[in-house]
Amino acid sequence: MNIGVIGSGNIGANAAKLFAAAGHRVVLSNSRGPETLEGLVEEIGPGVRTGTVGEAAEFGEVVMEAIPFGRYVELPAEKLSGKIFVTASNYYPGRDGEVDHGGLASSELVQKHLPGARVVKAFNTIYFERLRDNGRPDAPIEERETVFLAGDDEEAKRIVSGLIEEIGFAPVDTGTLAESRRQEPGSPVYNVPIKPEQARETLAGMG
Ligand SMILES: NC(=O)c1ccc[n+]([C@@H]2O[C@H](COP(=O)([O-])OP(=O)(O)OC[C@H]3O[C@@H](n4cnc5c(N)ncnc54)[C@H](OP(=O)(O)O)[C@@H]3O)[C@@H](O)[C@H]2O)c1
Repeated sequence: MNIGVIGSGNIGANAAKLFAAAGHRVVLSNSRGPETLEGLVEEIGPGVRTGTVGEAAEFGEVVMEAIPFGRYVELPAEKLSGKIFVTASNYYPGRDGEVDHGGLASSELVQKHLPGARVVKAFNTIYFERLRDNGRPDAPIEERETVFLAGDDEEAKRIVSGLIEEIGFAPVDTGTLAESRRQEPGSPVYNVPIKPEQARETLAGMG
């Protein structure tokens, strides 16, 4: 599959590496431009090349953002129309400034900004070192660490779940984009390394 990644930091670079290791083609981008990414892409190895944000957006059948949440308004809505779009960012007011959510979850704001995209919230609950180190593609799903996801488009969620499994984690669905609050900062499952059975039990306890 062709995958575009927007944001080349802790989460974006590690996700790009894992997707490429699973056999996908990846275009990795950041805010400063492709020339700033050449060393990183060389380090990551085959399967990943540099691009602008627009190129990553156009290239990917699946496009993932891992940028500070407050910057979501800069994502190129037209180029992302029709794409499965993974939002991994979390809202931290200290970093992102005051963002008026108007009662919506962060992923719903992203969806409003990208009306043509099929938004799935995923990879936002796992600390980057665990994403980098804990994938176990050979282990049974129930023995793996959970990566939570949420979204309104069932097919998009199935495809993102497949990617999560390919890189060695266990996908657990928290529900719709509105319900993605269940995997946001402050939730009992946020940044907690748990296997899927415990993840499902914790979610059930949240109602
Ligand atoms: N760190 C974690 O363990 C973790 C885990 C789960 C989720 N998250 C969330 O994931 C997001 C990324 O976290 P991170 O730790 O990976 O951040 P990071 O290491 O600071 O990297 C952020 C990346 O976003 C890029 N960027 C910023 N604004 C951009 C824009 N408008 N367009 C394109 N690229 C842009 C930056 O590009 P430049 O380098 O060119 O500035 C940088 O490559 C955050 O929202 C965070 O809350 C983080």
